[in-house]
Amino acid sequence: MKKSDSQRDLTRRQFLKKSGSAAIGLTAAVYFSDVSAQSKGPNDKLGVGVIGVGGRGNAHLGMLKWMKEQGDNIEITAVCDIYRPRLDRAAKEYNAKAYFGHKDLLADKNVDVVCIATPDHIHGYQAIEAIEAGKDVYCEKPVTHWRQFELTKKLAQTAAKGDRVFQLGTQAMSDSVWHQMKKLVKDGLIGQPVYGETGFFRIGDWGEKDMPVDDPNAKPGNDLNWEAFLGDSPKREFSVDRFFRWRLFEDYAGGPVTDLYPHSLTQVIDILGIDMPSTVAGIGGINRYTYQLREVPDTFSLIAQYPEKVSVAVMGTQANDFNYGVVRGSGQRCPVIRGWDGSLTIDRNNKEIVFTPLQISGAKQPQRFAIERAEDNVQHWRNLIECCRSRSKNTWSPMDLAFRTQTVLQMSMLSFKQGKIARFDNVNKQISL
Ligand SMILES: NC(=O)c1ccc[n+]([C@@H]2O[C@H](COP(=O)([O-])OP(=O)(O)OC[C@H]3O[C@@H](n4cnc5c(N)ncnc54)[C@H](O)[C@@H]3O)[C@@H](O)[C@H]2O)c1
Repeated sequence: MKKSDSQRDLTRRQFLKKSGSAAIGLTAAVYFSDVSAQSKGPNDKLGVGVIGVGGRGNAHLGMLKWMKEQGDNIEITAVCDIYRPRLDRAAKEYNAKAYFGHKDLLADKNVDVVCIATPDHIHGYQAIEAIEAGKDVYCEKPVTHWRQFELTKKLAQTAAKGDRVFQLGTQAMSDSVWHQMKKLVKDGLIGQPVYGETGFFRIGDWGEKDMPVDDPNAKPGNDLNWEAFLGDSPKREFSVDRFFRWRLFEDYAGGPVTDLYPHSLTQVIDILGIDMPSTVAGIGGINRYTYQLREVPDTFSLIAQYPEKVSVAVMGTQANDFNYGVVRGSGQRCPVIRGWDGSLTIDRNNKEIVFTPLQISGAKQPQRFAIERAEDNVQHWRNLIECCRSRSKNTWSPMDLAFRTQTVLQMSMLSFKQGKIARFDNVNKQISL
């Protein structure tokens, strides 16, 4: 039997309360005193600090600068990187305080909101520390690396307690279409949900192979902190490729399943209102980009089964971007949400949600619903800023949703690596294979 939203929410809250309570004791004093120190009125200027000022960090800085020029009451107050040339460049361009280590940025009282745009395996640690320092967080996807399930769990617990606001950098969640679909499913239009399918197809491996190498002779030292880059990943000798082109390597990335599928899967999990999967299978490989350095797959599919009697499938390759339906989002594949009474998807005109009833006697009538708002990364930021001002934790892409999405992605990657089906114990919150 399907659990209601409130039952599921209660289960999640009970878990977070139970497993988070031990950690609360130690950090509560610091945590809550910092929180009150950071409180701002609805009209106060919010200071934003960006950690990791590579490609994505600079894109965020550009957006934040533009927003400020448009009248948003925000200020870029600080930037951080462990590679000094990038740090100095960003600090100069955005007139922000420069920090060579993220702990110093987190101690800066002029930073209210922290944007984390470091490599995947660093996000979780910095997000936890940011919340514990009393900051609100915009954290890039994937929320953690694929081997960091325990860290993801800890971040979910940390985000659940206290009042800090969290937005994951899945900007597709700024598109109203997913929230509209979620409501239609909740209102019973498709009947009992049974299957969600989505994907991410594109052509090109620029995201891994063509990451810019600023200096082929770069070396660890005063201007490059290799230990900070490694984080909890295996200790390895410095390599220019690993440092600048980290998306090629499994120690720091996972290929499309972790890099791209958060953009496609997050909304499907949210629309279906499902909690944690019982089983997940992941299969993939390097089907096209078979050069020596690349370790991560370029093609990957996953199927997840849920206790709510719902299945979810995500397909994709970086070797072919053929699209046979409407494009909504970045992955050339629009989700189809199937239920016992009919299906929801998007019309080719890209302006309407389409409900198609099952072709059976007594079926419901076909229906169309105008889509209210398109994806917009600036609106994704504004949603976070509004939540920071109103102290609502209900952002478009909150940590609770990120936890549910990332667990499926992590399980699929572990399944692929070990050639086994991954199982989830929802009582003890553990993955096993
Ligand atoms: N939402 C999106 O559409 C989108 C797009 C691109 C990238 N991203 C995400 O943004 C993140 C960054 O990707 P990128 O392409 O900008 O990578 P990048 O390598 O260009 O930038 C990462 C920066 O982080 C710095 N860094 C590494 N370890 C650090 C640490 N411990 N502390 C502080 N700085 C550290 C690096 O020196 C580098 O400058 C990734 O997780 C990626 O998935 C999201």
